[in-house]
Amino acid sequence: MAKEKILVTGGAGYIGSHTVVALVEAGYAPVIVDNFSNSEESVLDGIASILGQSAPCHRIDCNDAAALRDVFAQEQDIAGVIHFAAYKAVGESVEQPLKYYQNNVGSLVTLLQVMEEYKVYNLVFSSSCTVYGIPEQLPVTEQTPVQKANSPYGNTKKICEEILEDLSKTDSSIKSIALRYFNPIGAHPSAKIGELPLGVPSNLVPFITQTAAGIRQQLTIFGDDYDTADGTNVRDYVHVVDLAKAHVTAVARMLQGKVADIEFFNVGTGRGNTVLEAVQAFEKATGVKLNYKIGPRRAGDVPKIYADVTKATEVLGFETTSTLEEAMKSAWDWQLSLQKKAKQEA
Ligand code: UFG
Repeated sequence: MAKEKILVTGGAGYIGSHTVVALVEAGYAPVIVDNFSNSEESVLDGIASILGQSAPCHRIDCNDAAALRDVFAQEQDIAGVIHFAAYKAVGESVEQPLKYYQNNVGSLVTLLQVMEEYKVYNLVFSSSCTVYGIPEQLPVTEQTPVQKANSPYGNTKKICEEILEDLSKTDSSIKSIALRYFNPIGAHPSAKIGELPLGVPSNLVPFITQTAAGIRQQLTIFGDDYDTADGTNVRDYVHVVDLAKAHVTAVARMLQGKVADIEFFNVGTGRGNTVLEAVQAFEKATGVKLNYKIGPRRAGDVPKIYADVTKATEVLGFETTSTLEEAMKSAWDWQLSLQKKAKQEA
């Protein structure tokens, strides 16, 4: 039987590239769509080196309906789509909201229209725990009320979920699963793919690894006066390889026809860790001392959030296979491999 073809928009990105690998390992045939606005061609080499085969890639923008149509026409028998392609910098979204609404919301609408035209009815959507805002109860379940978003970026995720929900109430045949990610970290154990932050990282783990590598002078921990165990923010850090596998099981569930209209899943570990615990886990896992200081709070930060992952565990068979330390070690190995490559190229 021919392998089922899955279109992966943003497949050269951080979570996308790990998902492409997981899809091939599970017996699917992923097809990447990426405009490389926040990724590099070298990601495709990393994927090929892990798999011993390259993944087909179309270099197009998902907002370009004509180009997207061409991809669907060329590929013909697409069984489902995983839609990662989106901008994701919270701070930038505050500065340039229209860029975010145009790209993140616009590309979903275009994609859905093209999917309908080509009778492709299964979609896995990349959502975020940002839709819960500052939750009143922890851990958050999928029933925890969605709140007003803290940033235009967060709002694009919320609006995209609403679009999918509205569509599910019509006679459209499109079914969808929205995966609400908590904080994805780490890299593939081969250290051949990982996160490639553009410029100065705004996320914690790439900032930690770049500080440890001497690229950044010092990590600033944004506030230690929150109502948490040590005063720093609590997050649920999920290994990107585990998160990637959740996409594969979500796709499998869709292709088995088990999704009636739309389903939402939290994907985290179910554990909350403070920023200081994350720093300590990094130091313990790598033996590298981190230069850090406590600074003021960052505007818009949620004090404390972590997932209840019962639904993903029971319905998708989701598993957390690595500890925070293991995830930190993999992020560090990836950073080291980047340094090595930069040295070789110099
Ligand atoms: N942090 C620091 N110093 C840094 C960077 C981060 O102390 O230099 C802290 C933050 O204050 C936060 C934690 O580390 O407490 C994690 O911060 P990230 O920026 O890595 O992640 P966020 O939790 O802020 O954001 C993540 C995703 C967003 C998503 C959001 C939803 O990156 O895409 O979760 O809550 F919108």
